[in-house]
Amino acid sequence: MRIPIAMAVLLGTAAAALFAGFEIEHRRVFPHELLSKIDMRLSSTVLAPILPTPEIAARYPTQLVSLAVDSGHVPTGIRKQEMRGGGITSFGRDILVLPFDGKVYAASSSADIRVTRIQAPSNHIAEFLALADDPRFADYSFEAEVPRYNDLKYFRSARGHGLLASYTEYDPERLCYTNTLARLDFPAEATSVDEIEADAARWRIVHRTRPCLALKKKYAALEGSMAGGRLAFEAPSTVYMTSGDFHYDGMRSDGPGISQDPQAEYGKVLAIDIETGESRIVSSGHRNAQGLVRTPDGRLFNVEHGPRGGDELNLVRPGANFGWPLESYGTTYSNTRIPGSLSFGRHDHFDPPAFAWVPSVGISGLTVVSGFHPAWDGDLLASSLKDRSLYRIRLADGRPVYSERIEIRRQIRAVHQHVDGRLVLWTDDQDLIFLTAQALSNLDDKIAKYVHSSRLSGPVASRLESVVQQCAQCHSFEPGDNAKAPNLARIFGHRIASTSYDGYSNSLKHKSGRWTRETLSEFLDDPKAFAPGTSMPKQTIRDPETRDALVSFLQHLSMAF
Ligand code: HEC
Repeated sequence: MRIPIAMAVLLGTAAAALFAGFEIEHRRVFPHELLSKIDMRLSSTVLAPILPTPEIAARYPTQLVSLAVDSGHVPTGIRKQEMRGGGITSFGRDILVLPFDGKVYAASSSADIRVTRIQAPSNHIAEFLALADDPRFADYSFEAEVPRYNDLKYFRSARGHGLLASYTEYDPERLCYTNTLARLDFPAEATSVDEIEADAARWRIVHRTRPCLALKKKYAALEGSMAGGRLAFEAPSTVYMTSGDFHYDGMRSDGPGISQDPQAEYGKVLAIDIETGESRIVSSGHRNAQGLVRTPDGRLFNVEHGPRGGDELNLVRPGANFGWPLESYGTTYSNTRIPGSLSFGRHDHFDPPAFAWVPSVGISGLTVVSGFHPAWDGDLLASSLKDRSLYRIRLADGRPVYSERIEIRRQIRAVHQHVDGRLVLWTDDQDLIFLTAQALSNLDDKIAKYVHSSRLSGPVASRLESVVQQCAQCHSFEPGDNAKAPNLARIFGHRIASTSYDGYSNSLKHKSGRWTRETLSEFLDDPKAFAPGTSMPKQTIRDPETRDALVSFLQHLSMAF
């Protein structure tokens, strides 16, 4: 086995960081600085491997419903990790997407993804990137991340309707940055985004977070992925906005963590009046606060990235303080105590999260399900980047009682429910995934589960699906049902012609042996050659790959019992 040298070096330094122990980290003596740097490297290299992107499945079976998929690509041309982010919302029949490129795209389905004539407000990224060549910033790092668009939200207030956009805005004059909320008003009668044309200057700034943050000398100058910036609207005119700490946490920055500073609008959930621009801090002690949602019963929940371990779901209440960076279920990336924290792996002094993911999953979006399927309605649905899954969280009296993980195998940036009830995912591969609920049909579900777990490629998966449907015209895949033909639920490894089906031909009845990969392949290729006189007609199976997948599926079914 070949271990890449870089990996070995990283693992070695990780071990060193562990041995150095948390006293050094805690007291911030040398080599605290060095350890933190190692930590940063670890977080970006070891913990965020670049994984190949599998195909999106045609359906995702879950505990209660089957999710049918319609997916399509938004043609932004964006590939790089640091150019991701963005948000989605609904207007009229369309899903609107605001990705990194600052264009607004619209889609009512995968077959209809188009760019609109709406341009987002400027975040001054060109001026920001130019700083990399500015001698005043020679010892700053501009590599990591840059200002991003963080969310897009359609609003309808007492006075009108339109879009809200939140983004990290660089201020070229003051050389600092803010989380900015801007609005674009639509003509009162507009019902489709196709009727609207707007350039960047058409947006009005509603609020810029205070203070304007200076570029950091430690690590990256501006860490756009730590912005938060997700929105939840409450009529008539309040928008709630998460505002991340941009790694102003006392580790990747000097000074105390900004999330505990009552004057600073970072590491907070804010309430902003979109008519007056007035803002107030609702809750504090957040880290990289991501998805935010108001439930129909008026609760406000947010999800946020903890450091290693300790992604949180928080019930946001006025005055709540969730403790960051003084307390967290997470650790540094080298598994030591977070420098300056009050405890290790505990959450005793501040408001605890309503739920936490340990280890971290890279939590991202959050929505509440309503009118999707009776079995899911009222549940929260959170999405994740690193774990590439959805989590359906059942609430009882506002408290989570369980979380079902649904693996999608895509880095999901945002999850949203469209006005027509479909759930929509926005992925870091710039795909939109529309999900509708279907009843769990047993056979479809069995095939989907098998396809999902065996990681079959898309074309083979769909050929398998259709050939199994062909078998299902005669055979049942439910144990015990032998009405029209022998049931195929448990034949693998069993004796040939040994189910309770009473119509076996003499030919098959007298065949000795068991069903193995070999005998099944032989039989399926040519039933009459295998057992002359069999009443099983020859089936069209397109190619050996599909036949092998079919045999594996039959094997899988038998093992599943
Ligand atoms: C038109 C109806 C029909 C279709 C379609 C059909 N089969 Fe069959 N199959 C039968 C019958 C009838 C038998 C019993 C044959 C006999 O007794 O000679 C049988 C027997 C079998 C057996 C042997 C079962 C045992 O108990 O030993 C297997 C395995 C099998 N079929 C697999 C398949 C697969 C896989 C497909 C789809 C590719 C398929 N069949 C499609 C009618 C069908």
